[in-house]
This record gives sequence, structure tokens and C-alpha cells, in this order.
Amino acid sequence: MKRAPQGILPIIAVDRRSQVPLYRQVYEGYREAIVDRRLRAGERLPSTRSLATELGISRIPILSAFEQLLAEGYFESRVGAGTFVASSLPDEGPPSDARTPVRGTPGRRVLSQASAVLGEGLPLAPWQGGVGAFRMNQPAVDQFPFQVWSSLVAKHSRNPTRSLLTYGDPMGYRPFREALAAYLRTSRAVRCEADHIMVVSGSQQALELSARVLLDARSPVWMEEPGYAGAKDVLTMAGARMVPVPVDAEGLDVSAGIERCANARAAYVTPSHQYPLGGTLSASRRLQLLDWAQRSGAWILEDDYDSEYRYESLPVSALQGLDRDARVIYIGTFSKVLFPALRVGYMVLPPDLVPRFMRVRDAMDIFPPTLFQAVLTDFLTEGHFARHLRKMRQLYRERRTVLVDSLQRELGDTVEVLGTQAGMHLVAALPKRFKDRQIAERAAKEGLWAMPLSPCYLEKATRPGLILGYGGTDAARIPEAVRRLRKVI
Ligand SMILES: Cc1ncc(COP(=O)(O)O)c(C=O)c1O
Repeated sequence: MKRAPQGILPIIAVDRRSQVPLYRQVYEGYREAIVDRRLRAGERLPSTRSLATELGISRIPILSAFEQLLAEGYFESRVGAGTFVASSLPDEGPPSDARTPVRGTPGRRVLSQASAVLGEGLPLAPWQGGVGAFRMNQPAVDQFPFQVWSSLVAKHSRNPTRSLLTYGDPMGYRPFREALAAYLRTSRAVRCEADHIMVVSGSQQALELSARVLLDARSPVWMEEPGYAGAKDVLTMAGARMVPVPVDAEGLDVSAGIERCANARAAYVTPSHQYPLGGTLSASRRLQLLDWAQRSGAWILEDDYDSEYRYESLPVSALQGLDRDARVIYIGTFSKVLFPALRVGYMVLPPDLVPRFMRVRDAMDIFPPTLFQAVLTDFLTEGHFARHLRKMRQLYRERRTVLVDSLQRELGDTVEVLGTQAGMHLVAALPKRFKDRQIAERAAKEGLWAMPLSPCYLEKATRPGLILGYGGTDAARIPEAVRRLRKVI
């Protein structure tokens, strides 16, 4: 390592053995010296020849570095006088245009209040992030038809059409929306045309977009109590004021909602499979909810996240199909039925809201990535999706039965098992004296990723319990995992 002497030459060093090219080392050395203010505006630089001699390297990399520093405005050359640190660079303190008196506190790092409502970092509780038994929201990804999938990905990547490479429609890839519309009409009783479907990066983005279009700061929004924290987070961050509305065996208690806040701007609901308790919104509650929305001018955010998996009957029809006043924003996702890392979901919009949603979407992220929409189009239209659903329904039914039997055998009357008819999770409700967070923390140490029920409440939890996912847990592992859970409890 050779060092240029201090005094006429600044302290820059070059290392001939480094992987970093010499011109880059010289360039960075000078740039840092200027940024660190070891070199000041207007100071003269050595000639490239003397610098080359001092550093013991050829002049060529030095010339390249100087050229770059001149081009970027760190250096300036004066005809006949040589090269200098640019005189326009600030000589003292912060940049000159910031030195005029300004309001505020120097050095303060001001962040938005909206982001502060969620606190810092990810709320990674001990029961999240592991891959052990009962992990929530985890489909059986090992059962995914990778062969078919990879051949479709290869087909679309090898010979991409122009539409796969250029800017696309903010609503999403048209053929995919056509395939989705056909699926939703026949399988979910959703009233829709491709024109009203917007493809999003999952339910989370659908909620964020809905908040931007439909809500104002402090707009009251009904939230199921207990409910889905992901929805609460994104709507709260958007400025909504969450109004907890209790849930019972018939789903959201609409009368209680009207009593608490009749003029709410919107209601977030999971009618087909209430998250987390697992109930189904009854027909009378559905009609009551739609009637309230129509009379009060409220919007309904229907999160239909996993209703494809229903074990004792056909999937429950979507609330959206009953809506005669275009009040429901229907939200679906491929996170449960395929895999969450896909980040593909969709929303069915009331037709009159389409232009506004489109405009906002265009301003947010312009349009969704096209490749996987093209792959999914084939996956749906060639019948692979329906086949996969049938296979998974069978598999999850078996896992659920083993889990329910094991819970009854091991924990008997200690737990009340709720929400077994659908989805990929159930709730083992505990007597009031139990502390579900502590149990979940201890279970996590045993490699069991059971989520406590109490954090799903906005207000004080009325009931402790554990939310047990079975989608990603092999039937053969379940009895032993439940035995371990019993010890923890
Ligand atoms: C109630 C509910 N809605 C939606 C989702 C899926 O969200 P996303 O589509 O953003 O992956 C989940 C998954 O955890 C969920 O539990």
C-alpha cells in the first residue's frame, strides 16, 4: 500500500493487490476526501504526473479518475492553472442553499405519523416465523404441481409475447382477468365481468388500495372482533379509526355494529370463513349488513381468503353475489390456494368505482407484474387449478380430522375446538384462566408454532385460545405434536 504524502497531496491510498481497479481507488479516494472535508473548495490538486510518481502507478488510471471527478463536478480545471476542487462545493457546514435560516430542528429525522401507528420493526412474535407444526397460513407447498408450473413458466419466459414485456393495464393482464371472472362466477357466485377485476399483489394491497380510494383520515371502519391483524394494520396506517364489532357463531354481529357506529364509512368482513374463529356469516346477517350499507352509504370489504376449502358442504357463496347496490369490494387471493410467495390476489370492484381505482393504482405501482399472470391464466384455463384444489381439499380434510381427533383425545374438555368446517386452521379455545400468549411462547420453544388468539382482539380479549394451522403440517406428525402441546398447556 502506497500513501501520497500529506501537504501538497491529499491522503489517498491505492492498493495494487486489491480487486478494485486503480482508477476507481483514486476516484473514490478523492471523492471521500472532499465529502469528509479533508479537501476544501478551491484547493489545488497535484498534477497527474506528480501524483502518478507519488503513488507509484501509471498516469492512465489517474487520468481516468480525474476525468470522472471533473464530469461529476467534484473537480474543475482552470485553463493554464491546473485542476482544483470545484469552487461551487460548500466550503463550511451544510450546502449553501441550506444555510439560510430554516424552520425546524437541524438534524431531526422527521417521520410520518401514519407509519408511527404500527411501531418499529416487524412484530415477529416467538410463535411466528418457524416452520414447525401448526404454523398458520402455511399451505402444503410440497404438494404443489411444480412440474406443470415450471413448464408454464418456461413456456412464457422462453418466447415472451410483447405484452409480457411492455407496460400493461393497471387492472391487470386481460386474459387472466377473463379466466378469473369465469372462475369466480361459477365457483364463488361472484357477479362480475373481467372489466371489474383488478389484479393485485395479495389481499393486503387490495385493502391498501381500498383505503386510498374509499377512506378519509379518521373514517370509522367496522373491524371483526376478534379479527385479522393484517387488515387492522393496513387500514389503521391509512388513517382509519377501527371500530371493533363482536363476532359470534353467526359471524359479525351487525346489530352491535349499528349500535356502536351506525355511520361507519366501511366494514371489513370475512363472511365465508371468519378469521380467526371460523364461523360463517348467516343469511340473515348478510342481508342485514347489505341493508345497513345501502341505507348508510357504507362500503363493505369482503375478504374471501380461503373459502375454497370447505369440508362438509359446497363452498359458501360470496356476499358480493347478494349485493344489489354495488357496495361490496370483493377481495380474493392465491396465497392459500396456491402459495403465499406468489403475491397474487384480485379484487372485484363495483363498476362505477373502476375508473377511480384505476387512476389510484396507476399512481401507486402502475400495474401488476405480467409473467405470473400469464402463467396463472394457463394454470386456470388448462384445469390444473381445479385439480390442485380437489387434491388439497382432500389432504386438508384428512389433516383437520386427525387434528380434531388428537385434540379431543389429548385435551378433552380443556379446549373447545372452533371453526373446523373450512380453511386451513382451527381454534382451540381455552378456559378464561389460561394465558394464551405465555402458552404460545412456551410452545414455540418446543417447535410448535401455535398463535395465541388474544392479539386478534382490538379491545380486551374475551377469550384465550390457540389458532392452530394444519395446512402445512403432515397428518402423521399431528398426534405427537398435540401430545407435546398438551404438556405445554
Ligand atoms: C384473513 C386473511 N386475509 C387475507 C390473507 C392473505 O393475505 P395476502 O393475500 O396478502 O397474502 C390472510 C393470510 O394470512 C388472512 O388470514
